Amino acid sequence: MPAASRPRRSVKSTARFVAGAAALLAIATPVVQAAMFEPPGDQVLFGMWFDPADGYNDRPLDINARIDQNVAVFQIAQEIPLPAYNWVTGAGGPAPENTIELSRTDAAVFLTVYPGGGFDTVTTADFTQLGQQILDYQTTLNRTVFLRYAPEMQGLWNAYGQQPTAFIASWRECYTAVKAVAPDTIMVWAPNTPQGYPYGQSLSASSTADIALLDTNNNGELDADDDSLAPYYPGDDVVDWIGVSIYYKGTDSAQTENNVQPEGYCAQAINGVNPSDGATITNWYANYCEAKPDKACMFAESGAAYHLNNTAATTVTRSQLQQGWISDCITNISMLDEFPRLRLIMHFEYEKVETANDNSQDMRDFRVTNDTAALAQLKADFASAGDRFSWAQSRAPPTSISSAGAPAATNSEGSTVVQAITATTRARPTTFPSLFGTTSDGTQRAEFIELGIMIVAGIGGALAVMKTL
Ligand SMILES: *[C@@H]1O[C@H](CO)[C@@H](O)[C@H](O)[C@H]1NC(C)=O
Ligand SMILES: *[C@@H]1O[C@H](CO)[C@@H](O)[C@H](O)[C@H]1NC(C)=O
Ligand SMILES: *[C@@H]1O[C@H](CO)[C@@H](O)[C@H](O)[C@H]1NC(C)=O
Ligand SMILES: *[C@@H]1O[C@H](CO)[C@@H](O)[C@H](O)[C@H]1NC(C)=O
Repeated sequence: MPAASRPRRSVKSTARFVAGAAALLAIATPVVQAAMFEPPGDQVLFGMWFDPADGYNDRPLDINARIDQNVAVFQIAQEIPLPAYNWVTGAGGPAPENTIELSRTDAAVFLTVYPGGGFDTVTTADFTQLGQQILDYQTTLNRTVFLRYAPEMQGLWNAYGQQPTAFIASWRECYTAVKAVAPDTIMVWAPNTPQGYPYGQSLSASSTADIALLDTNNNGELDADDDSLAPYYPGDDVVDWIGVSIYYKGTDSAQTENNVQPEGYCAQAINGVNPSDGATITNWYANYCEAKPDKACMFAESGAAYHLNNTAATTVTRSQLQQGWISDCITNISMLDEFPRLRLIMHFEYEKVETANDNSQDMRDFRVTNDTAALAQLKADFASAGDRFSWAQSRAPPTSISSAGAPAATNSEGSTVVQAITATTRARPTTFPSLFGTTSDGTQRAEFIELGIMIVAGIGGALAVMKTL
């Protein structure tokens, strides 16, 4: 009804109307409902990525021993479709969940799933199988499970990157299929940081439908003024937690130098300000945490890079650099107070080679527990934070979990993990495939050499016998 045709209200009826509207508003005010697995009060979960690959062999049990706390959430990763576990190379197969069982705690599983071959390669059946794997963790192993599907979906460094239309379709299919099997799964939507968007990328290879989503300022280009997150948001009905990847890699343009980060780095980056130049960027916290009170927020992967190729060029030590990160981005109580929807900090406890902005191969160490002084600070800060951080509880591992490291031949759903038959004289390698590098296993090489010698000796022996006949 047009406003002009409405009868005028008397003062009394206006007062009644105002009171009624106020009452309605009070009812309509959203009741803030905690997200799934959100810790109580103002508590924050601390989680870890760990590197199980050869040369590092890191494990949840070892991390807990180092920091003297039971880390609440551990990250493991796998591809979808799930490649069969290769018993010769140790590649493929489901993520090494048994390492979390062996931590002897009730830590949550944070399962990252990469559609590394692109969205087209993934079928509904693959998502259903993933749901069964997760249900197995939840029911047989009594684990809380976060599922982070197709993270950092804006970046062309992922085969599935910068395809918002296909991402949203695949996400919704994943949500529906996984939740149909395992409804308690916590779905984590986790884009990359808005800092530096669009990461040097353009619209040149994008479809018309994608361009319509990506070019939010409608100027025909993908640029720093486009919203870096909204094109990829699949909808409030299909997201439980919201994450972001946030790293500090140096202040130089190549990002190969060691400098201690400016204080307030993380607070700015999540709150609409690029810490390197003060420019306005998409406000992750305001748009996705404050504006969505029934969803909890997290740093899905985070850390500061100490550049090992560049240690001579600076006086900044590894300890100083990592301590800067710890006090600014992990145990910074003012940050946790200022951003109360931030409920989980997942630290990327890895060392890895990355391609720097000048295209050089840069060995970056993000670990906060591999440096004596940084580790001491982390422990002291956690101790003085009292119960602000929420930790896992100790409990015995289930008897069904082998300590040998290889995944079980069948899971409780009866799905078979394909095993290659190998001639072996030794125990199987106990390391796991890494998504961030190849696993070289000396034991395996030795076996092949032995096998070769045996074959040569066998042929030689047979020839010798034939000669005497
Ligand atoms: C499952 O784990 C939770 C959290 O540790 C615990 O409270 C509960 O008792 C466990 N349930 C069973 C059946 O063991
Ligand atoms: C902690 O975070 C606040 C923002 O809440 C920021 O102002 C402060 O500089 C940070 N502290 C450190 C040591 O970086
Ligand atoms: C940096 O170090 C890594 C190994 O430590 C090496 O692979 C890489 O080539 C080095 N990069 C440069 C530019 O020297
Ligand atoms: C750091 O990690 C390496 C493995 O990469 C390990 O050999 C070394 O003992 C660790 N150092 C500290 C101080 O934890």
